[in-house]
Amino acid sequence: MRISGRVRVVEVGPRDGLQNESQPVPADTRAELIERLADAGLPVVEAGSFVSAKWVPQMADTATVLAGVTRRPGTAYPVLVPNREGYGRARAAGATEIAVFAAASETFSHRNTNCSIEDGLDRIATVCDAARDDGVAVRGYVSCVMGCPYEGDVPPDRVARVAERLRALGCAEISLGDTIGIGTAGQAQRLIDTVARLVPVECLAAHFHDTYGQALANLLAVMEKGIAVVDSAVAGLGGCPYAPGAAGNVATEDVLYMLHGLDVETGVDLDAVAAAGVFICGVLQREPASRVSQAMAAQMQA
Ligand code: HMG
Ligand code: MG
Repeated sequence: MRISGRVRVVEVGPRDGLQNESQPVPADTRAELIERLADAGLPVVEAGSFVSAKWVPQMADTATVLAGVTRRPGTAYPVLVPNREGYGRARAAGATEIAVFAAASETFSHRNTNCSIEDGLDRIATVCDAARDDGVAVRGYVSCVMGCPYEGDVPPDRVARVAERLRALGCAEISLGDTIGIGTAGQAQRLIDTVARLVPVECLAAHFHDTYGQALANLLAVMEKGIAVVDSAVAGLGGCPYAPGAAGNVATEDVLYMLHGLDVETGVDLDAVAAAGVFICGVLQREPASRVSQAMAAQMQA
């Protein structure tokens, strides 16, 4: 076991979660959610995206959201950008960290960004060049790392090559997305073994959706391979509009419960995250998908 004593939990619920809601969530509610998550001690709270509003209307008012957030010193509030247009809008809105996204599946790349993997990397290169000039930190995502909703199996070496390209373009951290939550623990370990031959494991993060209920097991498996950055979404919100049927990200509450049980430090207050999850699920009029949150609520009622 090589499990790190400290794991950085990257909260993606306000972006990956809310981008998938059928009803857009008002900007002031999104801002309050972000503030609650940052107040809970999460070091990174992905705040939204600057993509085409025709494609993802849920994120259309991310500039208003950013303007409404009182930023905590030391917390990062990255936003997702697909191209130079998105980068310009993000910077005009005051974003100081960004995330770019590519895929390891050609069909998914076309569905998600209307271009090939190669053309998407060219777009990303222009974003990374501008970010370098501006001193803006860039994180890169690779989608479909353990399977594609359109193509099925995705070979790990293809993931590794896309991750390597993103790193060469200037992405300080590469987050490996199991977009459709289909992977299993052994597969996840083989993926890290393969990708880590081209990108140091210290630069990798795990971004696992929980469609098949394997996300926590897969996280533990990749932590044994040295992964120390984990993406998750409060209340298990989320999905991808271009991955039909995909469930939300692994719930932040569940990840924290597992990590704290392993004596892994996160610096995050589980109770405060659970309260943020209850807050947003109240707005969305449903129960948190997090099993830990459900168990905590049941205990309070007992
Ligand atoms: P396109 O239609 O091919 O772009 O979309 P275009 O360059 O031809 O422009 C068409 C129109 O879009 C123009 O407007 C542009 O101005 C506008 P018009 O002249 O028709 O009025 N436009 C923009 N508007 C605002 N912001 C922009 C922007 N860019 C162009 N940045 C594009 C290409 C990439 C823009 C589109 O496909 C898009 O926005 N895709 C984003 C899809 C998305 O957000 N997916 C979800 C996030 S990824 C994810 O969830 C996976 C992840 O979680 C990891 C995992 O789980 O695997 C990260
Ligand atoms: Mg995702």
